[in-house]
Amino acid sequence: MGNGIAHVFASKGYSVTMVDVSEDSLNKGLTTILKNMDRQVAKGTITESEKVTALSHLKTSTQLQDAVSNADLAIEAATENEDLKKKIFRDLDAWSPAHCILATNTSSISITRLAAVTKRPEKVIGMHFMNPVPVMKLVEIIDGFSTDAVVSAQITELSKKLDKIPHTVKDYPGFIANRILMPMINEAICALHEGVGGVEEIDQIMKLGMAHPMGPLQLADFIGLDVCLSILNVLYTGFGNQKYFPNPLLQNMVAAGHKGIKSGQGFYVYTPGSKELVVAPAFK
Ligand code: CAA
Repeated sequence: MGNGIAHVFASKGYSVTMVDVSEDSLNKGLTTILKNMDRQVAKGTITESEKVTALSHLKTSTQLQDAVSNADLAIEAATENEDLKKKIFRDLDAWSPAHCILATNTSSISITRLAAVTKRPEKVIGMHFMNPVPVMKLVEIIDGFSTDAVVSAQITELSKKLDKIPHTVKDYPGFIANRILMPMINEAICALHEGVGGVEEIDQIMKLGMAHPMGPLQLADFIGLDVCLSILNVLYTGFGNQKYFPNPLLQNMVAAGHKGIKSGQGFYVYTPGSKELVVAPAFK
């Protein structure tokens, strides 16, 4: 998600510094950005010279302190681990200028709890982009309990300048996008687990019948089964409601390392360079 967010900001002329823990991770991010920009050039969405200009706005760093010392906005897009995000927010608060807005791309972790570890909770906000970021129009903006209305309005305006469509919601587990999406994915896994239908039947029924671009099981693989599991756990513990309990099949698959596209296997098997959807052996 981080490289997609950097891609979009750089394309709109903003100076971006991508920060990650290693040069290797940063190079992977840059390679993905280059590949996606080349795809946009090939499709005629942007010109070669616009690509070169966009790339000139991008820098990388493994040093968070240096990277944010003059920042107006920092967007955290680390893995969905609350303790890790809290550490990053403490560092951002200590090292960025007082006016800097601290945003998180979290898909479900409480903005209010992240804000509470900083001395500027009024400047902490959720800026939830969707994957693939250069393609998807939505930015789900999440106001924490203490987020200032002026900050929220600034992030709304900024999202429009990125050519996105923002919608603002309150800070409750899963916000809106994942509160609705994840129970659908979980229900699809329940239906598979109970043998009501196979992987292809479930996905095709939702694609052909509901005009979804991907079936729920393919979408789960695309998002990452570990991410789906962690969001369902946030909903389950956050609301204390059994209806969000992650299906045991999902729990087993994550425990076995079958995390979807990122691990090469989930409900489908993924071969680099191939777009063919092949159902995983466990579900044939
Ligand atoms: N960067 C730039 N452009 C990209 C891209 C990327 N990473 N990936 C795809 N594209 C572009 C393609 O160039 C193509 O452009 P044109 O329409 O101009 O030709 C377009 O997107 C469609 O791509 P493809 O033809 O290769 O593939 P497709 O038609 O199968 O579409 C898809 C791919 C856009 C991913 C589509 O399947 C889709 O919309 N899937 C659902 C995505 C979704 O639901 N995302 C949200 C997930 S939830 C989330 O992100 C948040 C969370 O908290 C869990």
